[in-house]
Amino acid sequence: MKLAVLSDIHSNIAALREVSEHIEAWKPDRVVVAGDLVNRGPRPLECLRFVQEKQAARGWLTLIGNHEEYVIRNARVKVLERDPRFEIHRSSYWTYQQLNCDVSALQAMPFKLSLAAPDGGEIRLTHASMCGTRMGIYWHTPDEAFPELIGKPQPPLFCVGHTHIPLLRQIGPTLVVNAGAAGLPFDGDRRASYAQLTWRNGRWEGRIVRLNYDRRQAEHDFEDSGILDNAGPLARLMLVELRTAHSQLFQWTVRYEKAVLAGDISMEQSVREFSASNRDSRLYALGRFISYLPMPARRFVAARLIARAKK
Ligand SMILES: [Fe+2]
Ligand SMILES: [Fe+2]
Repeated sequence: MKLAVLSDIHSNIAALREVSEHIEAWKPDRVVVAGDLVNRGPRPLECLRFVQEKQAARGWLTLIGNHEEYVIRNARVKVLERDPRFEIHRSSYWTYQQLNCDVSALQAMPFKLSLAAPDGGEIRLTHASMCGTRMGIYWHTPDEAFPELIGKPQPPLFCVGHTHIPLLRQIGPTLVVNAGAAGLPFDGDRRASYAQLTWRNGRWEGRIVRLNYDRRQAEHDFEDSGILDNAGPLARLMLVELRTAHSQLFQWTVRYEKAVLAGDISMEQSVREFSASNRDSRLYALGRFISYLPMPARRFVAARLIARAKK
């Protein structure tokens, strides 16, 4: 049995086409798109349509990610444009509009999938972990945390995405696989990432595949789609993420979200300041260090940084 897992496409149709072509040539029995198909990128509708066609023609499966949840929220919660929260969520509102305000396909995506291996063992898949769509698995996640992150009983194979950093790790009886990001990697390698899982001699073997794709087209899509003009200043940081293969939005959130919500600084000014300060290599290195911390440690550091910023 062969299983392909791609995740975190983030509206990058150029990367999705390249990964899809590679997957089709590999001829897997199953393909799973493990969440964050849309949002944080320029071509959400094209990516959704592309995957829907693969669902119909090839039986591709999908999972919901936190970014689908952000887009769905726009259908439930109307935030006034003058409300600072609107600026924070403006990019997901832009994605919502690009999808013609129809989130039914996103709402239909499940949180978890269970497939059967040839020996009947479970293949469990979810976006980040069994603890939720935002609780990710990293190389530095301690072994003790895994029973909760994987869920019980521990399956022979557990596949996720969300962190945008690929990973293969054996935890007791479970091969844990993070497919990385097809459309927006954060490990410094700008190539698209996906995972190939092969059942061989009664066990799972995992392999992370990295692919060059038309990044010039992906950048052009930022210019051409209207995201830079209409999705708010944070869209500029998304383009930096694409160019650098390092997260920007998390570091911006740590430093500025509370201040923007409090009306202490405008969104535009915060992004200008952030972009300028990123040229300070020491701060940039700190941001990268923080991005590798597990979520509880991130929250702790974030709280300390915010407290310091308020002084
Ligand atoms: Fe993601
Ligand atoms: Fe995610």
